[in-house]
Amino acid sequence: MARHTLFSLLMAMSAATVALAQLSTFPATPLVSEHFPTPSDAPYHADPGNLARGNQTGYNICNSTTEGPTSLCQTAYVNDLGDFCLWGPAQPNSTIADTEGEVVAWCTVPGHGTRIMPEGTITGAQLVKTPDYWMITGLIQQSNIDIASNDTGGELDPGGQDLRGNPIGGLLYSTAFNTTEYQINNWVNFMGSNQFCIKICNPSGSNPEGYCQHTLDRIGSFYNCPSKYTQPTSSMQPGEFEICDSDNMQIPGVYVENGQTLSYSQPPESLGGITTIPYTPTIPSSSSCQTTSSAALFASATASASATGSGGSSASRTSSASGAGNTSTSGAERTIGGAGALVLGIVFSTLLLS
Ligand SMILES: *[C@@H]1O[C@H](CO)[C@@H](O)[C@H](O)[C@H]1NC(C)=O
Ligand SMILES: *[C@@H]1O[C@H](CO)[C@@H](O)[C@H](O)[C@H]1NC(C)=O
Ligand SMILES: *[C@@H]1O[C@H](CO)[C@@H](O)[C@H](O)[C@H]1NC(C)=O
Ligand SMILES: *[C@@H]1O[C@H](CO)[C@@H](O)[C@H](O)[C@H]1NC(C)=O
Ligand SMILES: *[C@@H]1O[C@H](CO)[C@@H](O)[C@H](O)[C@H]1NC(C)=O
Ligand SMILES: *[C@@H]1O[C@H](CO)[C@@H](O)[C@H](O)[C@H]1NC(C)=O
Repeated sequence: MARHTLFSLLMAMSAATVALAQLSTFPATPLVSEHFPTPSDAPYHADPGNLARGNQTGYNICNSTTEGPTSLCQTAYVNDLGDFCLWGPAQPNSTIADTEGEVVAWCTVPGHGTRIMPEGTITGAQLVKTPDYWMITGLIQQSNIDIASNDTGGELDPGGQDLRGNPIGGLLYSTAFNTTEYQINNWVNFMGSNQFCIKICNPSGSNPEGYCQHTLDRIGSFYNCPSKYTQPTSSMQPGEFEICDSDNMQIPGVYVENGQTLSYSQPPESLGGITTIPYTPTIPSSSSCQTTSSAALFASATASASATGSGGSSASRTSSASGAGNTSTSGAERTIGGAGALVLGIVFSTLLLS
């Protein structure tokens, strides 16, 4: 190659390196503080992009065009025990740890522009309601939503290592505390070991940042979502579905010892594994439980499987999960490493090809 070409390539490369080095880690506004009150207020990307961890891989404008097995919709809903979404990978057999920034919404019903869980994915679940939060815990056939069957998983939340959320730009809406679908800024979702918990906090509740805090991600769902499903030995069986009123849980990490209220915070990962946690969570009392069946919640899918418009919820919807079992994705592409890696990759391959 001509000398000047090599020179300009090297210049381009160092410019790219400088640009890379200059990418900030944190957004101007943390995701948890971004307000897009209703689904139609959401931009295509809730995340501003051009930041160190790479760009948002999916999108927040989701409709009948985006719905289906290759959807990269990153707007989730928790409306009822028969109408909720969980975060799962976009490619089969992935771990949550490897894909936390890129997971997409998998919902029990059509109508949100997302992927739809195959029938039989949720095998048991409990929704508990308090004025401050709603929480669904349960059992899941996690390989149905592309999580490797032996993955012990982890936590998805609107914080993350750089305040951009996991997934980056992930939004959540609910009718739980309002007459229409309204944004939930504080939420937490644990996935793994064929169990799940998704907790959404009332924006007008007493302590949404506390009940949905997400700094105890390494101590697991029993500490963050104490319930009969998440206790070390689950007392709930597959096939059980119920909706209950509940007392509030203790704020995760807060406990009482000898009459003193203390708080626990998770040690940094650099100090190694967590061996002792100084308290055991209490499962709050629940009442007025209504039991229902998988069939009642999910089975009428075929009757109303036709996707409706953008994220509209319908109070009468009871369906889910069409019968077809294939969860896999084809067209969807995952971009790991994001913007920086891509720019450098192009420069290097240009060099090699010249
Ligand atoms: C449907 O969603 C896609 C992807 O976000 C978007 O490009 C398109 O404009 C949307 N269509 C409508 C009618 O809103
Ligand atoms: C999942 O991936 C692992 C390697 O990470 C591989 O050993 C295993 O066979 C894969 N399982 C399926 C069902 O593809
Ligand atoms: C899951 O299985 C894969 C493939 O056999 C293995 O590489 C991986 O270590 C396993 N993960 C866990 C958490 O056991
Ligand atoms: C309910 O929605 C209205 C707007 O329609 C909003 O002003 C209000 O803050 C919402 N309340 C909660 C608890 O989300
Ligand atoms: C799932 O995919 C496999 C392999 O592509 C195919 O043989 C099978 O018929 C599909 N099943 C359904 C329910 O679509
Ligand atoms: C990342 O997003 C920003 C803002 O939308 C855009 O300008 C930039 O080109 C994107 N980078 C890549 C590598 O796609």
